[in-house]
Parts: sequence; structure tokens; C-alpha cells
Amino acid sequence: KHCFTKSDDGYLYCEGVRVQDVMDIVERRPFYLYSKPQINRNFEAYREALGGLNSIIGYAIKANNNLKILEHLRVLGCGAVLVSGNELRLALKAGFDPKRCIFNGNGKLLEDLVLAAQEGVFVNIDSEFDLDNIVSAARIAGKKVNVLLRINPDVDPQVHAYVATGNKNSKFGIRNEKLQWFLDAVKAQPNELKLVGAHCHLGSTITKVDIFRDAAVLMVNYIDQIRDQGFEIDYLNIGGGLGIDYYHTGAVLPTPRDLIDTVRELVLSRNLNLIIEPGRSLIANTCCLVNRVTGVKTNGTKNFIVVDGSMSELIRPSLYGAYQHIELVSPSPPDAEISTFDVVGPVCESADFLGKDRELPTPNRGAGLVVHDAGAYCMSMASTYNLKMRPPEYWGNPKRTSLTFRSKMVDQWPRSDMGRHLKTTSDALKV
Ligand code: LLP
Repeated sequence: KHCFTKSDDGYLYCEGVRVQDVMDIVERRPFYLYSKPQINRNFEAYREALGGLNSIIGYAIKANNNLKILEHLRVLGCGAVLVSGNELRLALKAGFDPKRCIFNGNGKLLEDLVLAAQEGVFVNIDSEFDLDNIVSAARIAGKKVNVLLRINPDVDPQVHAYVATGNKNSKFGIRNEKLQWFLDAVKAQPNELKLVGAHCHLGSTITKVDIFRDAAVLMVNYIDQIRDQGFEIDYLNIGGGLGIDYYHTGAVLPTPRDLIDTVRELVLSRNLNLIIEPGRSLIANTCCLVNRVTGVKTNGTKNFIVVDGSMSELIRPSLYGAYQHIELVSPSPPDAEISTFDVVGPVCESADFLGKDRELPTPNRGAGLVVHDAGAYCMSMASTYNLKMRPPEYWGNPKRTSLTFRSKMVDQWPRSDMGRHLKTTSDALKV
């Protein structure tokens, strides 16, 4: 069952609510529309898959940092994966248990590490200087930090280069050649660091579970080596990265169960707690970006549908050439001509497209057009380029067949930079 379905009447529904009806009652601007039941179903798939294992589902907050969604995932039972001090503060505000939070990243700042140490979250060691900063943070906070070693296993995730992280030339983690150096360095700081596990994250949009299995085999070998030196480590963190069916072709993709089943025996054989860090596979398919058609035009051999949404609201197609499925929300008149269109926004550059070469009925002005699977890395990467406003977010309430305004923007994110002022350097010196 999926939350967004085209029904026989030709209308797109979100959990029983017509998307067209939503468009008719909300502000006239692009918006994100979510399904809470789909979030529940996605979480449940992980929870069921993890049956019989000691585990933490660490939701990767970067995928979608709306406070209401965070609170919802926390209530369902998620921990959180953080990559910045602000994500850590937001996770705390959303009520996540710090003991189920993991602070990740190749450039963690000392001041943020101090907060992490005070709060008692797990911290991943990413490099020599990072270890140094974690030790300093532990001293400043007066707390011993539970650390995991982020090992870069050099497994090719077979994804777009921009979202591959587990190959040996990537900026993330440490290489196994340096493992002994790090173990010695941790041993030398018994009052500051407690090594509790090993972590890897291979990349994102991965669609073959063998890749996770290959990495897990390497990781348990490292864990064996680490344990041989007297460390009592309990956690294997295999990161996130499971892909989803962006193409809507009905292709069978690995599920959370397939992912967990491929590492289950390894985890049990070493008596480990498993940490996973899903972002996309929990939240991407729970949301659409809803746009309105401004007009249709043709230049040279290209047909364009121009909509009000753009790369400012949803940058994945422009940044990664990512495909996200596009469809109209209402039935087209029977005489509407079907053509091949690029779906573009109003932003002043040619990188501004939401989809290329899409076969669609020629829409009327004002028609609704959705970009699917927009729950992950869309709102969280939205900008105000061309002074477009960051879009509002709603979630449908199927029980009342009405809508609830989902949330105000998270506090630290202003809706827009309208009226932003430039400080002079002398202002800065006064501060
Ligand atoms: N853990 C770590 C250490 C990560 O770096 C990431 C994502 C995740 C977990 C979650 O991965 P997921 O399950 O969501 O694949 N902006 C890109 C995706 C960047 C992913 C960055 N790291 C996109 O729009 O496709």
C-alpha cells in the first residue's frame, strides 16, 4: 500500500484526500504534502525486520528535519543520527534519548562536541584531529565519551559519485591501515574515551544488499581484531543508504527486511548490537512536492512545462541528475495532447529543472503537478535562491478527510531572507 495513488477517477489521492482539494484550500505556492501513515508503515518495516536483534534505528535527521516529523519518529521508537550541532540541538528539542543518538561527521566542531559529550550521545571518530577534539571535548565537559570508530571499508556502493562515501578516496572515516594507530590513541585516553563500536556508511541510494553484506563481513573482521586487543565493543553500525523506487516502474528493490537479513547472522555470531542509520528509506516516499503549472512553451525542439516550484524548493534533479517521478494531480481533458516535456521552474538558470523528457498530457495553466518521493533531501536542502520562499509543509489527516497544517518552520530556519541586512566589518568587531 502506498500513500499517493491515482484512483480510477483520474485524481491523485494522498491517503484518501484529493491532492487537488488540498491545492484549492492552501496558499497558492509550491508546498510539500506528507502522509503520516506512510511514515508509520516505513518505520514498521524496519521494526519488523529487526525482530530478534538488539538494535537502534538511528534516523538520519539530515534527510528531513521538520520538528513534527522528528517528534513523530521519536515516539515510534527511533534514535537519531546527527551531523551538526544544530541537528543535535534539534534532536534534543524533539525529545530524542541522547543514548540513542549518534554524532557523525568529518568536520565536527569542538563546541558541538562539547555539547555532545555533555549530553552523552555516541560520537564517531572520523580522523586524527577529530579524535583530538573529542578528547578535548570530554575534558571540557568532564564526561567520558562513548565513541565508535568510523571505518572506511572501501566498498563501492555503485551510486552517484556525490553520494558515495565508503570508497577509499572519500573524505569520510579512517582507513584500515590506520586502525592500529587509532586503537593505541584511544587506549591512551582511558578517562576521556570509551570505545564501544565500529561504524561504516557506504553511501546513499544503494539498491543491492550484497554491498551491505560485503561491508558487514569486513566490519566484523575489524571488530574481531579490535576485541582481540581487549576492547569490549558492543555495537556494529552499518550506516544508512538503502535506496527506494524513484522510477515507479514496479521494479523489485531490496526492502529493510532484505537488508537486515543479509547481516543478521553476522551480527548474532558476534553478539553485537546493530545500529542502522536510515534516512531516505524512512521518509522519501511519504511526501510529494505539489506545484502549479504557470504555462507551457516550446523552444527549438524542446517542450517545457513551467511550474512555480524549482531547484530552490527541490534541488536533487539539478544537483545529481536525480530522477523523481512526476505526474499531474487531476485528469486531463480527453483532447489533451501527450508530448515529451522538460518540467522546469522559474529560476534563472538552465540547471533549474525538476524532470527531463517526461511524457505528459499538455496541462492547462494552474494544473497541479507533483514531484514524488520528495520526503528526503528535498525540504532539508531547499534554499531561498531567487528569493523564493522555503515552501510550507502539510500532512494529510485521512481520518477527518481534511488537512492539518503540519508545522511552522523549525525555529532556526527563517522562511526567507527578505530584508536581510549586511553588517559592516566594524559591526562585526563590536560584537
Ligand atoms: N548515515 C550517514 C553517516 C550518512 O552520511 C547518511 C547520508 C545517512 C546515514 C543516511 O543515508 P540514507 O539512508 O538517507 O541514504 N543529498 C543526497 C543524499 C546524501 C546522503 C548523505 N548521507 C540526496 O539527495 O540523494
